[in-house]
Amino acid sequence: MKADITYLGKVINVKSGNVEIEIAREIPSAAPIINGRLYKIGQIGTFVKFPIGSLTLYGLVSSVSNTPSSVENTVYEPNYGSRFLHVQLIGEKLGNEKFQKGVGTYPTINDQVHIVTEEDLKSIYGDKAKGVVEIGKHSSSENLPVYIDIHNLILRHSAILGSTGSGKSNTTANIIKRILAEYQGSRMVLVDTHGEYSSAFSKNSKVFKINDKKNPLIIPFWTMTFDELSFF
Ligand SMILES: Nc1ncnc2c1ncn2[C@@H]1O[C@H](COP(=O)(O)OP(=O)(O)OP(=O)(O)O)[C@@H](O)[C@H]1O
Ligand SMILES: [Mg+2]
Repeated sequence: MKADITYLGKVINVKSGNVEIEIAREIPSAAPIINGRLYKIGQIGTFVKFPIGSLTLYGLVSSVSNTPSSVENTVYEPNYGSRFLHVQLIGEKLGNEKFQKGVGTYPTINDQVHIVTEEDLKSIYGDKAKGVVEIGKHSSSENLPVYIDIHNLILRHSAILGSTGSGKSNTTANIIKRILAEYQGSRMVLVDTHGEYSSAFSKNSKVFKINDKKNPLIIPFWTMTFDELSFF
């Protein structure tokens, strides 16, 4: 396994779902080409995997450093380098079974860590099936479509989270556009308190606004709290 082109390094620290990895100096390149595709090692947001017998654990790189988090506990070996990754475990896959979120087993010291290839990502993100809509391509792989399960999205609560300017509004508009394209004739109500989405849906939406003469937004009294109602 160490000779594999996907080999990355070994586990040096495990704290519940957070795993620290030391990248081996012997890996052929910081950006190996595997099956014709370039993979960048140590990019935040990329996946790594921990093969443990027939079980494979998957994790997301959350930080990169040139020093280990606990220096005194680390035994330096000549083969090992000065690049350390923090990884959050996200799920596991047993043999050829489907990828599952959450882990039941944790890696341990000196377990091997490998780069996740496009084939692995396919098993994490799933294939096109009934009831799923493609919402775009994965940022680390242009060939990898990312799907969203419409039933889960609609029947459960969902949130799109990110820091200011990270693309939340764009993601929301894009998801709605993809759903409308897939399920033509479907209707959606968008409560747009900041009035930012009307331009994105100018062709196929009807915009209602408070105090608008043409399309006034009329709110039933029962939607208001006592304070809001007494304001009138
Ligand atoms: N997938 C994307 N690819 C390239 N640029 C993008 C992408 N998504 C958003 N952007 C750009 O990033 C900027 C911020 O996007 P957006 O307004 O969606 O972020 P936001 O998270 O909603 O921000 P805010 O927190 O201010 O509401 C915009 O200029 C947008 O064009
Ligand atoms: Mg926004």
